[in-house]
Amino acid sequence: MESRCAAERATGTAFACEKSDDRGENPDGTAVEVLSALPIHSGQLGRQRADREATAGAGCHLPAPRRRPPLQSGRASMTNDLYLRNAWYVAALAGEVEADLLRRLILGEPVLLFRDEQSGAPSALHDLCPHRFAPLSRGKRVDGGIQCGYHGLVFAPSGKCVLNPHGNGRILPTAAVRAFPVIERHGMIWIWMGEHDLADPSRIPDFSYLDAADQRTRGAGYLPTRANYQLLTDNILDASHADYLHALLDSDGGTRHEAPRVQELGDGSVEVSWTWGPASPMKFLSHMYAPGAEVHTRLAVRWHAPSAMHLRISSAAEGEELDQGLQAEAMHIMTPETARQTHYFYGGVRSFDVANDAYTAAFLEGARRAFADEDKPMIEAVQANMGDETDIFAMRPLGLIGDAGGVRVRERLRRLIAAERHP
Ligand code: FES
Ligand SMILES: [Fe+2]
Repeated sequence: MESRCAAERATGTAFACEKSDDRGENPDGTAVEVLSALPIHSGQLGRQRADREATAGAGCHLPAPRRRPPLQSGRASMTNDLYLRNAWYVAALAGEVEADLLRRLILGEPVLLFRDEQSGAPSALHDLCPHRFAPLSRGKRVDGGIQCGYHGLVFAPSGKCVLNPHGNGRILPTAAVRAFPVIERHGMIWIWMGEHDLADPSRIPDFSYLDAADQRTRGAGYLPTRANYQLLTDNILDASHADYLHALLDSDGGTRHEAPRVQELGDGSVEVSWTWGPASPMKFLSHMYAPGAEVHTRLAVRWHAPSAMHLRISSAAEGEELDQGLQAEAMHIMTPETARQTHYFYGGVRSFDVANDAYTAAFLEGARRAFADEDKPMIEAVQANMGDETDIFAMRPLGLIGDAGGVRVRERLRRLIAAERHP
């Protein structure tokens, strides 16, 4: 299913897990105690999977299943090594989460995204009711939270069960569904899939250039893509494919004659850049210069772990600083859905010709086509050729100079994941 978000909610921030309307009471004020008429197996909590325990703060009250439900596709045995868990991922564009409940698999986990009816603050819950494992996304928003559509338990945004409509209505204090920290920032809903207490909002990569730019130029989109997220990350870090796959981004050889400059920066990000010229401007900039003019161009991609990238194209006439020239900036953010499926969020702004609405429409449509009709089918075809494999380097690919950035980033991410598994 593909959905596209045209409108973006004005940027705001809300750390949903710090807010809770859960008072430890039923809506009628009665104290919550135990879930009626259900066996209580508190001893089972110790045998719940570690990743659920780490952030739920409360377990479910039925015996843990011997095996994890089949929630993930891909090679389950490798899943733990595929993802960095203690990191911020984009769960959705802000405009995708409105009145309706949104279910989305993230790192193979079913997640329910919704907004508080009054405040509009976003929340994220494990989309799996602890009673019979029904998706909470089949329920509805009610005063105080989400009501499961199967037997009517209500869960607050904190994840705690706050209403049991059965029997005497009592609720086990530990009855809860896992809640994920979420923050709305830069027009996106960011989610933390790792240990709850490590969710530091200051670790969200800075995409404030999206907010600072003239909003008339801003666009964003969402592309569900059937490929491992690292193939999509490699694709953004490898601009050398532009001349062959994208008419709009034709670099006239600028991105393939020289190896990119790869720099590891102090904040843990990696910048991959190409600079060339004098040469003809990139095609989407040609209307800004006199016919036959030659310019200097820089294409720089800054990667933030695990898979968020800021792509900036700068174009300057002879004698002009690149930073003073025309700027087109884009975000490309990959959130793993499963081992071989990815939520691809993109968006962008520009510094030039900002009042030209016709150009804006054509530019945004051109960008959408480049990602949706050119990149996406190619990367999906690559994944299809790889079959079940999720690591292209396990298949010993031939290397080209344009791969240098992607190789460095993969190595950095591999080290981060390894450190998380074996601190
Ligand atoms: S599955 Fe029974 S209340 Fe949710
Ligand atoms: Fe591309």
